[in-house]
Amino acid sequence: MSPEATTEVRSLENHVGDTVTVLGWVHTTRGHGNVGFVVVRDGTGLVQGVLVKKELEESVWAVLESLTQECTVALTGEVRAEPRAPGGYEMGVTALELLGASEEYPIQLKDHGVDFLLDHRHLWLRSSLQRAGLRVRHEVEHAIHDFFYERDFVRIDTPILTGAIGESAGTLFETDYFGEPAFLAQTGQLYVETACPAFRKVYCFGPTFRAEKSKTRRHLTEFWMIEPEVAFADSDDNMRLQEEFVSHIVERALDTCGAELEVLERDTAELEAVAAPFARISYTDAVTLLQEKGSEVEWGDDLGAPDEMLLSEQFEQPVFVYNYPKAIKAFYMKENPDDPRTVLSNDLLVRGYGELIGGSQREDDFDRLLARIREEKLPEETYSWYLDLRRYGTFTHSGFGLGLERTVAWITGRHHIRELIPFPRMMNRLTP
Ligand code: 4AD
Ligand code: MG
Repeated sequence: MSPEATTEVRSLENHVGDTVTVLGWVHTTRGHGNVGFVVVRDGTGLVQGVLVKKELEESVWAVLESLTQECTVALTGEVRAEPRAPGGYEMGVTALELLGASEEYPIQLKDHGVDFLLDHRHLWLRSSLQRAGLRVRHEVEHAIHDFFYERDFVRIDTPILTGAIGESAGTLFETDYFGEPAFLAQTGQLYVETACPAFRKVYCFGPTFRAEKSKTRRHLTEFWMIEPEVAFADSDDNMRLQEEFVSHIVERALDTCGAELEVLERDTAELEAVAAPFARISYTDAVTLLQEKGSEVEWGDDLGAPDEMLLSEQFEQPVFVYNYPKAIKAFYMKENPDDPRTVLSNDLLVRGYGELIGGSQREDDFDRLLARIREEKLPEETYSWYLDLRRYGTFTHSGFGLGLERTVAWITGRHHIRELIPFPRMMNRLTP
């Protein structure tokens, strides 16, 4: 049966009174003596088929009785509006064909432990919460590309295999590249920076890799990051772009994902309130505030997850924490001329999830950058191309990285970011 001859559930509203065929997977079946029901999911929605035994050929009823969860079927019948049915429409079934059997589908409609579900991720994807979360991810991805396209950014695809350490030596996946060590990219940033003099405003959007030994709800070993880079932008411009960007993403999700956010039972009031400008607090003031709230953090410490949660709770809007200590940040961040203990950096924190974005103005001075590479004991020879950007026409520039899964987890309200990527990679998980 060709897809052209069939109808997608999402368009049934245009076919009331018509006899159509829907192709899909059996969600549930139930029967009451002479009347049977089958709910079919076709990837665009759910539709209920109603079968009346005495109006059908025996063979059709026999097919109904043989159906099991997730078998593939072709359902033919007349479309009727039915507000009580899932999806709002039902079909008075006249023909039913089994196209693909499904014996003992392992995910029953009852609770399973999360390890079991993750082991069956390839099947778990079919369930309603997972579908809703991944559809929001899809819409967010589009919103991101639209945001940059509308602002004349050029997308630069950066390499995944690289010889230069992008962030820090601690969380590298190393592989053998014809006898040379190569790493999976922790970031596309260093490459995207070099495209600024070519296109002025650029961004990359791709998978990034970190050998994170921590098993937290906010860490994956493979996650997707969006990293814009803007020539002649300073740290303040950078934060303005971030708040505009995040507001745009949230607005789009609210516009296009209402049904999904309802399935996910997301309280959207918090999202509706998101609007630039966001709150801003310096790292130094943040440490003082945290201490007042009972944290044991000291000036110079990185903010751990509990501190980020506590801090973000103090603000209605997402909050920028800016000018972190140099010692806890990456080598490429520009020293703060007003306080050389700190760098012109920022994180953006949101309630319940902490850091969504890390960004900074970049060190544009050749000597200082080289000194930082040496201080961090990074392999100097692998950065000669990166240093060229400071050799040949250096310029003020800034950029940031937004973690896609954390952003979608925040928008959907899902606790753990592993549900917002189709096939999560974590310390103990490489399958499926
Ligand atoms: O703060 P990070 O490490 O910044 C960078 O990678 C810069 N190169 C970005 C830039 O300036 N172009 O990471 C940026 C964001 C974090 O704020 C977080 O949302 C996400 O990436 N992230 C992770 N998400 C999931 N799992 C992990 N292990 C993550 N590590 C970072
Ligand atoms: Mg960071």
